[in-house]
Amino acid sequence: MVDQARHSGIVGRELGIAFVGAGRMGSQRASIAASHPAVRFLAVADIDPDRARAVGEKVKADLCSGDNLAVISRPEVNAVVVSTPEHEHTRPVLQALELGKPVLVEKPLALSLDDARQITAAVAAAKGDLFVGYTKRYTRSFILAKEYISRGCLGRTLGAATRVYNSRAQAFQILKRSPHASPVLDVLTYYVDLVCWFLAGNEPAEVVARGQKGVFRDAGYGADDVTWAIVTFADGAVASLGVDYALPEKYPSLGQSPRMEVLGTEGVILLSEEHKEHIIYTNKGISHGYVPGHDVNMAFLGTSSSGDYALGDFWGPQADETRGWLDYLSTGRPCILPRAHEALRTLEVTLAIERAAATKESVKLPL
Ligand SMILES: NC(=O)c1ccc[n+]([C@@H]2O[C@H](COP(=O)([O-])OP(=O)(O)OC[C@H]3O[C@@H](n4cnc5c(N)ncnc54)[C@H](O)[C@@H]3O)[C@@H](O)[C@H]2O)c1
Repeated sequence: MVDQARHSGIVGRELGIAFVGAGRMGSQRASIAASHPAVRFLAVADIDPDRARAVGEKVKADLCSGDNLAVISRPEVNAVVVSTPEHEHTRPVLQALELGKPVLVEKPLALSLDDARQITAAVAAAKGDLFVGYTKRYTRSFILAKEYISRGCLGRTLGAATRVYNSRAQAFQILKRSPHASPVLDVLTYYVDLVCWFLAGNEPAEVVARGQKGVFRDAGYGADDVTWAIVTFADGAVASLGVDYALPEKYPSLGQSPRMEVLGTEGVILLSEEHKEHIIYTNKGISHGYVPGHDVNMAFLGTSSSGDYALGDFWGPQADETRGWLDYLSTGRPCILPRAHEALRTLEVTLAIERAAATKESVKLPL
């Protein structure tokens, strides 16, 4: 179970939440928070004030602004969600920590080790209360895997194999927002986090990897289309991790289509979250929740990474995650997300995978 020692002491109090970055994730999380019984004050900031106002109106926020600090520092605000692009997390996170406010920041913690180390140092200095939004931890099958591994059902964990596929349509949305947020740093990061969670106490020690360039290079980006890595852990356990986010744009995944397998001396867990058995086909077209203007005829239902709007509400891992964090703040209920130091280690592994793929040499951890 996670260390609850740093709980910020706002249990039992009303919550005032600031949302910094009112894009896809920020607006989803703000709409989920708007109906939480403990939340009495909502504030929305975005570098684009029109965007802050539009989302603020939708969630009936008490305050909207183009100035992050004005929102973070409001006395009614006692916790902050940072949903800015990957390379823009650090400043608002540090501002919130300096003011002693708990933080939920989107994954990855940062794109550079310098930024991530600055955040972990600030958390340590302020005894800060920060979780990183590795939403996949709130997928039911992964929670059950963690439960049964913790109960010892697999015996000693010997290794894992995981890979995730998606269409290039979504990858280009990510690269447009943050050109250095490669599929390894931005997507495979969820699976590095999960494998490290499952193998808790057994630190990643070495990485070998290979990648191949094509679609993204032709579009002017540095990212590989396909990357495969083997991560060796301190006791010799080996995990194979792969990502292909360059499948054709109409590939039916509406987000991540992963498999996860964990292997032990006494058992094995085999999970498919590809949703290939949940298909809709329609001549009328379905709009892609993440890619504006992108319609598909066929889709694997339930593959949208964070969840889906349906029947007037938002459903899926990010709804459970956001409510789980708000419950943690207001009731002290445990939150199963990683802390800053775990997210820093995950970033190190993904950076090591990129370095190993680029140099074709093994990379030792920690970096
Ligand atoms: N947990 C999940 O399921 C999940 C899914 C997708 C993305 N993400 C993560 O969420 C984050 C945001 O992704 P998104 O898809 O919402 O992006 P987005 O582009 O839809 O939204 C980002 C918003 O931040 C605003 N912004 C940019 N710089 C800012 C700054 N300095 N201060 C304030 N606002 C700023 C932009 O105007 C935009 O409205 C990323 O870290 C991404 O990796 C998480």
